[in-house]
Amino acid sequence: RRLAAAATVADLRRAARRRVPRAVFDYVDGGAGDELSLARNRAAFARIEFRPRVLRDVSAVDTSAAVLGSPSALPLVLAPTGFTRMMHHEGEVAVARAAGRAGIPYALSTLGTTSAAELAAAAPGTRRWFQLYLWRDRDRSEELVRRAADAGYEALVLTVDAPVAGARLRDVRNGMTLPPALTARTFVDGALRPGWWLNLLTTAPLEFASLRQWGGTVAELADQMFDPAASLADLAQVRALWPGKLVVKGVQSAEDALSVVEAGADAVVVSNHGGRQLDRAPVPLEELPAVAEAIGSRAEVYVDGGVRSGADAVAAVCLGATAVLVGRAYLYGLMAGGGAGVRRALDILGAEVRQTMQLLGATSVKDLTPERVRLRPSGR
Ligand code: FNR
Repeated sequence: RRLAAAATVADLRRAARRRVPRAVFDYVDGGAGDELSLARNRAAFARIEFRPRVLRDVSAVDTSAAVLGSPSALPLVLAPTGFTRMMHHEGEVAVARAAGRAGIPYALSTLGTTSAAELAAAAPGTRRWFQLYLWRDRDRSEELVRRAADAGYEALVLTVDAPVAGARLRDVRNGMTLPPALTARTFVDGALRPGWWLNLLTTAPLEFASLRQWGGTVAELADQMFDPAASLADLAQVRALWPGKLVVKGVQSAEDALSVVEAGADAVVVSNHGGRQLDRAPVPLEELPAVAEAIGSRAEVYVDGGVRSGADAVAAVCLGATAVLVGRAYLYGLMAGGGAGVRRALDILGAEVRQTMQLLGATSVKDLTPERVRLRPSGR
């Protein structure tokens, strides 16, 4: 009932805030530094003005988009997000199944809490992508890539905006560790949410690292694992190793988009990691037209950061994106109600895409062109 009453992703966010401990909510909701990029990602969508055409017979609308050359029911992809079982014990499996039901791809994170093989077995009908961070331990990175290939993953998503961890100050202030510790600080919060803690205790040991013994912050873990020495030569190596489609995520300029496409990327994601890495990084939606123009038809261009509605997704497609990635939008659903919450989030986004296209006078994503939007100077 709580989920059915949610009319928007913002409603799911409010429900999520009540369901999970503060430190977990803040880990998902927050960004880096002063959270300027986080706020700007959202503010950019408020600048969108749609320019509808009328009398276009929008009785039949096709919301599908060709993503990596195959149809996706919506121009949406579920973004890779780490530690998903911390948000709800159903974790990645529930998210992947919801993606399959909605007919869209899902990217499993390197920092996932379900292995690539386990997820493939649990959601065989879902288009599965595997996200890779280059680890200091290159043998381990290579092994992850091989396992994803063995488990039939369609695409590898190499994230390149995290040579080191971003400054996640909410995590520092909340004393957020992995796994979340029941301390004097978190006790009252935990006591108010016994169901969530019970979920955590039933969570299987995490596969990628022995998190149960870890006890550090996400940033400390990231800095221990991620390789700040990663370079274009490594991208070439990953390209040689991976037989499937290669997506490079975290590109923030037309120049870098061009160089990764020259190195063999099939798609780029214009992204500032949802405002979680470099604060004051460029706003992906604003960078998108230049990247799309530079890349042309050489590769697909996706964008993420701040997408909270179907209208946001439609706007990004108008500005040149083949598809948008969504992170927090589905995580709010997951935190609010597990798999049912993710399904609710995707139902909301799908209905909004359809309705926005109809009101715009667009019957397919081909009609979503730059002429359909104007960027207002401010979000008013
Ligand atoms: C992320 N993101 C991310 N990206 C990635 O490549 N690997 C990862 O493990 C994670 N982990 C992660 C955890 C959480 C909790 C969030 C919110 C985000 C970034 C993610 O893929 C995506 O770029 C952003 O979430 C997009 O912004 P929105 O949609 O959340 O505003």
